[in-house]
Amino acid sequence: MKESTNNKAKWEDQVESIIKRFPERKEKFTTSSDTEVKRLYSDESNEEIHKLGYPGQYPYTRGIQPTMYRSRFWTMRQYAGFGSATETNKRFRYLLDQGQTGLSVAFDLPTQIGYDSDDVMSEGEVGKVGVAIDTLHDMEQLLDQIPLDKVSTSMTINAPASVLLCMYIAVGEKQGVSLDKLTGTIQNDILKEYIARGTYIYPPKPSMRLITNIFEYCQEHVPKFNTISISGYHIREAGSNAVQEVAFTIANGMAYVDAALESGLDIDAFASRLSFFFNAHNNFFEEIAKFRAARRIWAKIMKEHYKAKNSKSWKMRFHTQTGGSTLTAQQPDNNIVRVTLQALAAVMGGTQSLHTNSRDEALSLPTESSARIALRTQQIIANESGVADTIDPMGGSYYVEELTDQIEKEVNKYLDRISEIGGAVQAVEEGYMQREIHQNAYETQKKIEKEEEVIVGLNKFQLDEEVNPDLLKVDEKLEKEQVNNLEKIRKQRNQDEVLKTLAELRESAKNKNSNLIPYILAAVKAYATLGEICNVLRDEFGEYTGA
Ligand code: 3HC
Repeated sequence: MKESTNNKAKWEDQVESIIKRFPERKEKFTTSSDTEVKRLYSDESNEEIHKLGYPGQYPYTRGIQPTMYRSRFWTMRQYAGFGSATETNKRFRYLLDQGQTGLSVAFDLPTQIGYDSDDVMSEGEVGKVGVAIDTLHDMEQLLDQIPLDKVSTSMTINAPASVLLCMYIAVGEKQGVSLDKLTGTIQNDILKEYIARGTYIYPPKPSMRLITNIFEYCQEHVPKFNTISISGYHIREAGSNAVQEVAFTIANGMAYVDAALESGLDIDAFASRLSFFFNAHNNFFEEIAKFRAARRIWAKIMKEHYKAKNSKSWKMRFHTQTGGSTLTAQQPDNNIVRVTLQALAAVMGGTQSLHTNSRDEALSLPTESSARIALRTQQIIANESGVADTIDPMGGSYYVEELTDQIEKEVNKYLDRISEIGGAVQAVEEGYMQREIHQNAYETQKKIEKEEEVIVGLNKFQLDEEVNPDLLKVDEKLEKEQVNNLEKIRKQRNQDEVLKTLAELRESAKNKNSNLIPYILAAVKAYATLGEICNVLRDEFGEYTGA
């Protein structure tokens, strides 16, 4: 009893100090019948409350901030990008004008796999699933009129993450923003690429070196930048269940921590800038419990297993995207309802940042109006539903607390199994996680085909009529224009400078102890292309051919 009273007193002190910097959104939060909504509902007489702790307190089951959304809503961060940098810049500025509070860049496949737009491998893919970025010039166009000291930007890039991060830093410098003011996130999570997403280039060892080089460089030069977004989203999209999503993501997170420690970094110097990225799937209460369990598991691992001392190292801060694989091509407007429920689960689960999918994304990249409805979904949840007015509203629910405990137990069983195999890198190389995911995907598909799992509009409540909403089309001419622009840059740049920076990068790649980021930054500033830089590292590291 004493302990929980102390915890409560400590939490109240934390609230006092935090609201000076992050005042609550309202003087008084009330229901429609004018009942005051308390900051937190809990029951000190219930011993179970001990395990939950308080928001902003270890193990953070109820949230990582003492006041959560009463002070600041989650970041509304819509993933966007298609065609040319100029096209995408227009969409970015549109979304910011519509009230979006953070940026999230989708790159096209050639960029994600380190090929220039004029590479034979890029044919037909330039600007298709995201924006085409070949040189620093494209990055300058992408971020034109966007103040990088005010807006945080997430970049979904993995194998060539170091190159895009350096382009972002170079644009920040051109805008006159000091590097310690740059905020954002680089996904930089190669293990899930091997497991589920596929945009890898190099073998695991050199990939882990590039990742920890980013940790080291940012902790020194770009301290507010989140250096990795350890992703469960794609693991779930590949067909895992909620427990596997959390377990494999946390196992990957531990592998990155181990690699950083092996490279000589101090845990409390880099751990506070690790971030996570989860899926918000259909089962509402399971998803809320999943987020709460994940926070608690990670906090215990960081404090008890890795002995991190700084409480910031224990906090799992995560972004959520509603489940793309749950969207149906049939009756696309139904997807607005799915996305709403999934977004609500993410908010009730305490997400820091959220992307809501658009209704037409099972068919194509979103139109402007679909992207707007997706953003409005978040704004309605935030401003009209009341769920953001009290912290962890499901806390104490018999169902959700039991589910949270159950997920924690199942996840820990997987973590023990993966550590028996020798950790996540070993497990990936052996194909263990891939097999588990494929098995679950197969079981799920069978349930859908047997209609044991109903997907409205797909295997029940179908419509005969053809649905053909207006879809976004990426102009075929774009590829040609992008290649022409690239040729112009190649002609205008100082070729000797490019060759010099690429040669120095090659030399540094040969020396395992050198940090490659400064050399990549120099090459980027000389307008070396993404492909030229990635090809130097292909020569030195080789390419991964899969488990
Ligand atoms: N009280 C006190 N402080 C608060 C607060 C509160 N209630 N709320 C927020 N803050 C503070 C935070 O502490 C932070 O300050 P700090 O950096 O000094 O600690 C600041 O306000 C910003 O808050 P957050 O860090 O919580 O929010 P961000 O949005 O900046 O960061 C994140 C969230 C999860 C940590 C970050 O990593 C992030 O934005 N990730 C996004 C990743 C993303 O968008 N990925 C998209 C991938 S798309 C993809 O891969 C799918 C495709 O393949 C299909």
